[in-house]
Amino acid sequence: MQKKLPQIRTPLPGPEAQKILALDHQYVSPSYARDYPFVAKRGAGMLVEDVDGNTFLDFSAGIAVVSTGHCHPDVVRAIQRQAETLLHMSGTDFYYPLLAELAQKMAEITPGDFPKRVYFGNSGTEAIEAAVKIARHYTRRHRIIAFLRGFHGRTLGALSLTASKAVQRQRFGPLLPGVTHAPYAYPYRCPMGCKPGECANHCTCADYIEKTLFKTITPPEDVAAVVIEPVLGEGGYVVPPAVFLQRLREITQKHGILLIFDEVQCGMGRTGKMWAAEHFGVVPDILCTAKGIASGMPLGITVARAGLMDWGPGAHASTFGGNPVACAAALETIRLLQEKYISNAAEMGRYLMDRLADWTSKHPKVGEVRGLGLMIGIELVKDQATREPNPEGRAQVIRRAYENGLLALGCGESTVRLMPPLVLEKEHADFAMDVLDRCVTEIEK
Ligand SMILES: Cc1ncc(COP(=O)(O)O)c(C=O)c1O
Repeated sequence: MQKKLPQIRTPLPGPEAQKILALDHQYVSPSYARDYPFVAKRGAGMLVEDVDGNTFLDFSAGIAVVSTGHCHPDVVRAIQRQAETLLHMSGTDFYYPLLAELAQKMAEITPGDFPKRVYFGNSGTEAIEAAVKIARHYTRRHRIIAFLRGFHGRTLGALSLTASKAVQRQRFGPLLPGVTHAPYAYPYRCPMGCKPGECANHCTCADYIEKTLFKTITPPEDVAAVVIEPVLGEGGYVVPPAVFLQRLREITQKHGILLIFDEVQCGMGRTGKMWAAEHFGVVPDILCTAKGIASGMPLGITVARAGLMDWGPGAHASTFGGNPVACAAALETIRLLQEKYISNAAEMGRYLMDRLADWTSKHPKVGEVRGLGLMIGIELVKDQATREPNPEGRAQVIRRAYENGLLALGCGESTVRLMPPLVLEKEHADFAMDVLDRCVTEIEK
């Protein structure tokens, strides 16, 4: 693990990996969706080593989780110190300093200059569940508006909001009643038929909520919350026009509806600012985050305007939520992000976008490149004129990248997503761009 760039020493998967794969395929739930047979042994910074000693550059960051890179020494030390002191006590029934300290920190760093309260869970899904329960409890309304292509988790409540892939819902219904899905402003494939560029000043997707939903099936007086990812993650790494989110803020304010931002994937510095919300000048009432918050320790956080948490003791809690070790990792992660890695994400994001700037002209199968900071999507199409999605091409690119030492994942129907740890350096970025450039060229032949 000394080297900065990947080295592949065995055919893939190697002999040790094959043993683990056989065991995994026998015992582990087949619901996990693995695109290629990478079997991790250890990680450091941008690199991960597999069980056969091959090293890979990780442009997946464990699905946007290891924000400070694999096993950042400062985070590891914080975890070790805390593990030796107190592993668990449960904030649901007792007090401990880290829970209150992290709550204070989250209230300080989240958008909005108003008093806030913080709820702790163990995952992104739980952060969403809590937000929806807060919204229903506070407003005494039951309806929720979410968005097509959005992803908010897989427990039955969160799944009711998720509208990313049919397989995630198939045979799990009926889900939570009162959830309506509206179109997400996706300029490259506008669901309302606008052409790219037309959405800059006026968003017909936001209009649809006011002019259609509110007047037909979703009376605004019944709506507790609008839940949205300010940048779409799982659904395709889509950056909406600012006017979309700004209009949602106006519409929700007008009708006493809470605006909930799901920053589980796009938060924690990934977009080059601590919160994606900051790019759009919109302050939500409730913000959910998880993934990158604790560099790999399980933690989900829901931050709300203080007055919204008008629920009393026993209304909601989780045994493990805000575990002291996860809190220690989060505080150290936030310190590192603020000190250097958020600015690095902005700088390296610009560097990657510069390298990708001519891809739609030089690659006939690249339909669009989009993103903010280190949240970048490369959408593959069968041809640029029809924009027909190219999921087979995407699968091949990702597989070939793996064989060349680069771990990447897909999102949406046919987008390759780049979500490296925020510690990315130019040398890594160049390696990744060269590999992907070659892989896309190969599938175009
Ligand atoms: C935007 C968003 N919300 C919620 C979730 C669910 O998070 P978790 O898998 O930690 O439950 C995810 C996970 O991918 C996500 O990307």
